[in-house]
Amino acid sequence: MKDLRVKLITYGCQMNEYDTHLVASELAASGAALVETVAEANFVIVNTCAVRGKPVDKVKSLLGNLRKEKRERKTPFFIGMMGCLASLQEGRLIAEKFGVDVLLGAGAIHKISEAVSKVARENEAFWDSGFYPEVDELIPPPPRGLSAFVTLIRGCDHHCTYCVVPSTRGPEISRRPGLILKEVERLLAAGVVEVTLLGQNVNSYGKDDPSYPDFADLIRQVAALGVRRLRFVTSHPMNFSDRIISAIAETAAVGQYVHLPVQSGSDKVLKRMAREYRRDYYLERVEKLRRALPDLVLTTDIIVGFPGESEEDFQETLSLYDEVGFDSAYMFIYSPRPGTASAENFPDMPREVKVERLQRLIEKQKEWSLKRNRSWVGRSVEVLVRGVAKDDAWVEGHDQSNHPVLLEREGVSGPGLYRATIEQATPHLLLGRANERLLAPGERA
Ligand code: SAH
Ligand code: SF4
Ligand code: F3S
Repeated sequence: MKDLRVKLITYGCQMNEYDTHLVASELAASGAALVETVAEANFVIVNTCAVRGKPVDKVKSLLGNLRKEKRERKTPFFIGMMGCLASLQEGRLIAEKFGVDVLLGAGAIHKISEAVSKVARENEAFWDSGFYPEVDELIPPPPRGLSAFVTLIRGCDHHCTYCVVPSTRGPEISRRPGLILKEVERLLAAGVVEVTLLGQNVNSYGKDDPSYPDFADLIRQVAALGVRRLRFVTSHPMNFSDRIISAIAETAAVGQYVHLPVQSGSDKVLKRMAREYRRDYYLERVEKLRRALPDLVLTTDIIVGFPGESEEDFQETLSLYDEVGFDSAYMFIYSPRPGTASAENFPDMPREVKVERLQRLIEKQKEWSLKRNRSWVGRSVEVLVRGVAKDDAWVEGHDQSNHPVLLEREGVSGPGLYRATIEQATPHLLLGRANERLLAPGERA
C-alpha cells in the first residue's frame, strides 16, 4: 500500500461522514497516504448517498470526471465507490458504466484495505454489496476538533414506502454497548466536548439483543462517562417512547433539542407512506415532550409532493406546522427511487406542483424559525465555537439546542465552549456576544 495515495469524497448524511472516517483510518493503518485533492491521488473513493435523485446525479457526474481522469492519466489510477448507492442494483449498474474498480456497499466497508490492495496489486475489480456484522467492530480514532459522531445502530426495520435506506443499509443491527462506551471514552480522553449518537432510527437501539440496554438506558450510560453535550439523530416517532422522554429530561448533557421527522400532516399521506402513526399520535408525542422539556427546540423532516398528495393534504401539513411551531425543518421534494414501493405503485406528480408547495412550506418554516429564534434574544446560551465565520468579524458555532450561532469575534480567543448572550435573531441563526470561555480544546469537561 506504500505507493497508494487515496482521496476520499463524501456525499450524504452524518452516517456516511462517520463511515468515511472509519475507512480513512483503516487505509492509513495499512500504509496508504491520504491526500487532499484528486490531482495528488492515484485512488479516489466516493462515499455515496442514494436517498434522493439529486445525490445520485452528483455521484454520476463525479464518476464521469473520474473516468475521464483515468483515461487521460499515463500512470495507474483507480476509482472506488462505497456506501449507500453501492449497496443497490442501481449503483452496481452505474459502477459498471463508469468503470469502478472497488465497490463496497455500506455493510461491507470493513473490507476496504483488502479491496484497495487487491485492485492496486492485481488490477482486478473487487465488488461486494453484502451486509456483514464485522462492520460494527471498527473503532475510528478520535477526529480533530471538539465534536464527534458515534454510530449506535445500523440499518432500518421500518418500511416507509418512499425510502431506499432499508435496502442501502440493511436491517437494524445494534452495536455492542461495550464498543460504544469504549469509543466514547476515547473521544473524551481526546478532548471531545460534543458527542452525536448516530443511527437511521436510534430509538430502536437494543431491540435486536435482549442483553443490551435500550436507548433510554444507553443515553444515561453514555452521559455518565462525562460527556458535556450529547445529541442523537435520527428518531422515529413510533419508537420515541415515554422512557426515552424521561431519560432525556433526566440527562442534563442531552439538553432540550429533538429532531423528530413527521414527513406529512395528512393521515391519508402518512398511511400511503406507511409511517405507522397518524397526525394525532405525532401531536401527542410533541405535547409529552414539551411537558417534560419546557425549552424544547424541535426540528423535523417533511416531504412535499408525495404521490396522491392533494392540495387539502398539503394544507394539513401547513396546519400541522402551525400547530407544532417547529423551530426548523429539512424540507424535501418527493423523489421516486427505483425499487421503492411508492415509485413502483404510484405515479409521480408534476414537478411544478411539488416546487410550488415546497416554496410555500419554506415560507412557513422561515416565519416560524424567525419567531422561535427571536424568543432566544436576551438569553444566555453555551456555544461550541468551531472557528472564524466567512465574515471574519464573527466566529461560528452552535448552541446546546443546535441553533447555528455567530458570535462577535472580539472576546473570542479561538475554538472552544463559550457562555454567550444572544442579541439578535434571523430565520437561520442567532447572533450574540461571548461572556466567558468555559472550555478550550484539549481541556476535559
Ligand atoms: N431514518 C431517518 C432519515 C431517513 S433519510 C428517518 O426516518 O427520519 C432523511 C430524510 O430524507 C427522511 O426523513 C425523508 O424526509 C427524506 N427522504 C427519504 N426518502 C425520500 C424520497 N424518496 N424523496 C424525498 N425525500 C426523502
Ligand atoms: Fe427510511 Fe423510514 Fe427507515 Fe427513516 S424510518 S430510514 S424514512 S424507511
Ligand atoms: Fe444517504 Fe445513506 Fe445517509 S442513502 S441519507 S447516505 S443513510
